[in-house]
Amino acid sequence: MKTDSQVLVTGGTGFIGSHTVVELLQAGYNVVIVDNLCNSNKAVLGRIKQIVGDEAYKNCHFYEVDICNKGALDEVFSRHNIGSVIHFAGLKAVGESVDKPLEYYSNNIGGTLALCEVMREHGCKSIIFSSSSTVYGDPDELPLTEKSPKKNATNPYGWGKWMIEQILSDLYTADQAWDVVLLRYFNPIGAHESGLIGEDPKGIPNNLVPYVAQTAVGKRDVVHVFGDDYNTPDGTGVRDYIHVVDLAAGHVAALAWMQGKTGVEAFNLGTGHGSSVLEVLHAFEKACGHKIPYVIEPRRAGDIAENYADSSRALEILGWKTERDLADMCEDSWRWQSMNPDGLSDD
Ligand code: NAD
Ligand code: UFG
Repeated sequence: MKTDSQVLVTGGTGFIGSHTVVELLQAGYNVVIVDNLCNSNKAVLGRIKQIVGDEAYKNCHFYEVDICNKGALDEVFSRHNIGSVIHFAGLKAVGESVDKPLEYYSNNIGGTLALCEVMREHGCKSIIFSSSSTVYGDPDELPLTEKSPKKNATNPYGWGKWMIEQILSDLYTADQAWDVVLLRYFNPIGAHESGLIGEDPKGIPNNLVPYVAQTAVGKRDVVHVFGDDYNTPDGTGVRDYIHVVDLAAGHVAALAWMQGKTGVEAFNLGTGHGSSVLEVLHAFEKACGHKIPYVIEPRRAGDIAENYADSSRALEILGWKTERDLADMCEDSWRWQSMNPDGLSDD
């Protein structure tokens, strides 16, 4: 990163982005957020300020900008000395991507192309990309390492992650001044321990933990458990849930590590431990102090039985590992949900 330069965080008011902005500001970075607020609320900025304090927040700048808009992005790059980019911005509902492939490819891939073009025009060639364990598809062997084969995706959202990884790798092949880090997240859940920021899905949640949290707080009647006949210890799907603050810290570690380097590197960010749907549900019951009703439903189309990470490469190279367990994730998620039952309104 250039001396005195700033970090551009696309999608920085979203779930993972907002937690990462907090970690960056607390680590002393100067942060520029661009987000079009299509899946987040500007009120998150006030919450970030509350967490980091007025002094650190002076180093946080926000622009309501769509990354597909090259002109607007160009203005941001002209106004700031951007040294590196952490690229979170994207649409992320797997089911919706099946119904709206053009919107997903246009926003996620088109947005990434626009961003990279503007970066190149401004001589900024350092990018961390939010990838996903979805690039491994249905694994033959567990745990997943970065050497595990990438498999066909089963939906446009997953293909988008797959293709963007390829596009960024091709950029480096063409110009070895690029510095690309692909962070493959497993299942981020939890919230900041302050309860001030967390996951704030619009409409009915697609993902397990927000659905469980909304059921626990009384906004939904019952959790639908998608399948209890998988080849797993209790028959329900197993995933590697990772606390969003640990995940955010992984970005800060990657950003520090990549300075002065070039190349393309992928890292799995997970705990290395799988938990079943029922284990998550029962851990959440402990956190909220009461039973959470559930019903067993048929399997959800496109789901795999099990995945979990081998994150030893991130430990070896980035010096990063997770510090929080499933109980912490559920406690923090519950604090956020009970303090903000309707998510963030415009504070
Ligand atoms: P999120 O929806 O909370 O955050 C994404 C942010 O990007 C939102 O604030 C949204 O308003 C913004 N955005 C979307 N399109 C934009 C555009 N064209 N221009 C500007 N801003 C735009 O999602 P999240 O969970 O924080 O995910 C962040 C990234 O991590 C995404 O790329 C997602 O695909 C990836 N990821 C998420 C998970 C997960 O389970 N949450 C897992 C793996 C990877
Ligand atoms: N599940 C339920 N009921 C629900 C929601 C989910 O039983 O209401 C089950 C699923 O069947 C699965 C597990 O809970 O077994 C986790 O499902 P999520 O939807 O929470 O997460 P996924 O593993 O399907 O996918 C998530 C993100 C993807 C990302 C992937 C890997 O949604 O974007 O993690 O990072 F690619």
